[in-house]
Amino acid sequence: MEQKKYIPALRFKWLTPLYDFLINITMPEKKIKEALIESAHISPGAKVLDFGCGTATLTIMVKEICPEAKVTGIDVDAKILDKAIEKVKEKKVDIFLLDYDGKQLPFQHNAFNRTISCLVFHHLDTATKQKALAEIFRVLNEDGQFYIADFGRSKSWVQRTLFNLIRGLDGFKPTDANAKGLLPELISGTGFKNVEIKKRFKTMFGEVQIICAAKK
Ligand SMILES: C[S@@+](CC[C@H](N)C(=O)[O-])C[C@H]1O[C@@H](n2cnc3c(N)ncnc32)[C@H](O)[C@@H]1O
Repeated sequence: MEQKKYIPALRFKWLTPLYDFLINITMPEKKIKEALIESAHISPGAKVLDFGCGTATLTIMVKEICPEAKVTGIDVDAKILDKAIEKVKEKKVDIFLLDYDGKQLPFQHNAFNRTISCLVFHHLDTATKQKALAEIFRVLNEDGQFYIADFGRSKSWVQRTLFNLIRGLDGFKPTDANAKGLLPELISGTGFKNVEIKKRFKTMFGEVQIICAAKK
């Protein structure tokens, strides 16, 4: 069987158990995730996909903030999903979690109203980013919208310099388009409309931007 190729949450699989603790103490995680959910204007009954859900922190927050939404989390890493399943059980929330091959999302066309994604795209090289964006576009319905939080090019040289810490950890190739500020262009290139950077957060690892995009 072909081995899945992906960069785990903290680059090395053995660091995955520390992910929640480390992201919480080093990043304004709650602020970023709350802003992402708020930007997405999720209505009751909306079908929401969390792409690259990791330990499901954001996925659970969506369900807690919008209890009537139908929330699905997907990730390529089955090991991190074990942790996500544990957290979902603890919180007693109704969320569907699944892993996939990292290529084709196992959903029909037009299956979701919203796709959200936090800190995933800097793990994907440019060709993989484009393929993932095309899949996200495909599974969103006609009125669907995409909201992403990830590292982007900052106007501040300090923030640009700090991003090298993440680049050193996760690799210079997957983070290249983020460092060059090309994420909005890649999103538009897939067919998304009204692509816009909504918010910027300065962090100790560089600037995280919330980008929104609509299918039509
Ligand atoms: C830094 S973690 C972010 C996790 C979570 N979204 C959060 O904000 O806490 C990046 C996640 O992206 C996942 N990932 C990497 N490549 C992926 C791909 N091709 N498709 C979906 N998820 C992927 C990793 O397994 C990891 O869980």
